[in-house]
Amino acid sequence: MEVTLKILRFNPEVDSEPHYDTFIVPDAQPNDLILDLLECVRGFQDGTLAFRRSCSHGICGSDAMRINGRNRLACKVLVKDIGNHITIEPLIGLPVIKDLIVDMEPFWEHFRTVLPYFMCPDDPVPDGKERIQSPEERERYDDTTKCILCAACTTSCPVFWVNGKYFGPSALVNAHRFIFDTRDCGAAERLKIINEQPGVWSCRTAFNCTEACPREIHITKAIAELKRALTTGRLD
Ligand code: SF4
Ligand code: F3S
Ligand code: FES
Repeated sequence: MEVTLKILRFNPEVDSEPHYDTFIVPDAQPNDLILDLLECVRGFQDGTLAFRRSCSHGICGSDAMRINGRNRLACKVLVKDIGNHITIEPLIGLPVIKDLIVDMEPFWEHFRTVLPYFMCPDDPVPDGKERIQSPEERERYDDTTKCILCAACTTSCPVFWVNGKYFGPSALVNAHRFIFDTRDCGAAERLKIINEQPGVWSCRTAFNCTEACPREIHITKAIAELKRALTTGRLD
């Protein structure tokens, strides 16, 4: 089948404004990934097309982009799922470096703000062995361990679009992942951080993040759990 790709391009070295380029992929298959089509264009039609990819299997999170108006991973969308007229644009809310590549540094900055690592400096491992956790305790934060840091959620959030200082749903998901982990000792410190503006209270429950997440993480629910922990002082 023939597929038409309309791609928003921007090369800061020559362009003053972004513009769309249209490419025809003449022999696409229904089971081709959108990422396959982009590789086809870059390989055979325009070697200057810039986009990120790595694993091609929905694991590394590097190829999030807007596909027909929705944030998705190019390696998780098949041609047969969206038809043969496809518009591809970079994520919204982060500066475009070139074509479909955005500057992820503001995203990483928010990620770092929530201290996304284990903290137990004054609490040695019991018996020098391991920190025991029950299956129920592990289940409590299982959903938020699935994040691959693709930024599809944060860049679909209308609050983040108007206020880039908002931590964004991805950072809050990763705060949740450690706050509800019984092996970690940093919950109070992280809760204090997200309690301040522009942290968890900037969320307006828009749900765009939950719809965008390729890992199907219940992001809005996780954010609600953080709000509840702050108002009740409980982590159950
Ligand atoms: Fe991507 Fe989902 Fe993680 Fe957001 S929560 S960065 S959408 S994997
Ligand atoms: Fe934004 Fe998600 Fe909240 S889209 S407003 S972080 S529910
Ligand atoms: Fe790794 Fe798509 S290329 S998630």
